[in-house]
Amino acid sequence: MKKILFVSLLLLMPVTMSAQEKKDCCKKAANPVVETIMSRTSIRKFKTDTICPEMIETMLRAGMAAPTAMNRQPWHFVVVTNRQKLEEMGGRAKQAPLAIVVCGDFTKTIEGPIGKEFWIQDCSAATENILLAAHSLGLGAVWTSSWPNEERSKNYGKLLGLPDTLMPLCVVAVGFPDESPEPKDKWKPENITFVK
Ligand SMILES: Cc1cc2nc3c(=O)[nH]c(=O)nc-3n(C[C@H](O)[C@H](O)[C@H](O)COP(=O)(O)O)c2cc1C
Repeated sequence: MKKILFVSLLLLMPVTMSAQEKKDCCKKAANPVVETIMSRTSIRKFKTDTICPEMIETMLRAGMAAPTAMNRQPWHFVVVTNRQKLEEMGGRAKQAPLAIVVCGDFTKTIEGPIGKEFWIQDCSAATENILLAAHSLGLGAVWTSSWPNEERSKNYGKLLGLPDTLMPLCVVAVGFPDESPEPKDKWKPENITFVK
């Protein structure tokens, strides 16, 4: 009887294993990183509370941890907490206690006209990391565009006294959330093609 039980258990093993594997896979899908990604949403209304330097540094560290073509890190982050400057910047920054202006640093880009353009992808990856770090810290943030409107980017540069080699890509307005919108469900299977 014991032998039969042992053999049937052995036979069942692959089935149980695969169920377990499935379970593990689901657990992995529900890990804190994925949870942070899935629950992030743009926040456009902020409390007036200031953000401590440690939180700001965490967001900047996250930004600088982004992938970057040929590891050039062609970015520069301008941290604006000056109320008057925030007002002058307008848009969402006007209502936020902090704005991080993510800039491309043209002294660090890959050589050549094609290589140079990677700054946009590098700085976009850094921006998303900043948004996720902000959310994980209980802050709210929104990516507001500047590039590819060159004139608008240059105006930010002038306002903030940046050299011509620093090109603002976007302004991330950050603060403690004063609204709690539901994250949008953007899952659309029709946006996927599997090549098996
Ligand atoms: C390149 C880019 C530019 C954006 N510009 C603005 C903007 O100027 N103002 C704004 O309120 N939100 C802006 N957003 C935020 C989007 O409106 C927002 O991400 C989108 O509606 C999806 O909502 P979610 O972030 O809550 O998922 C921008 C986002 C990206 C990626």
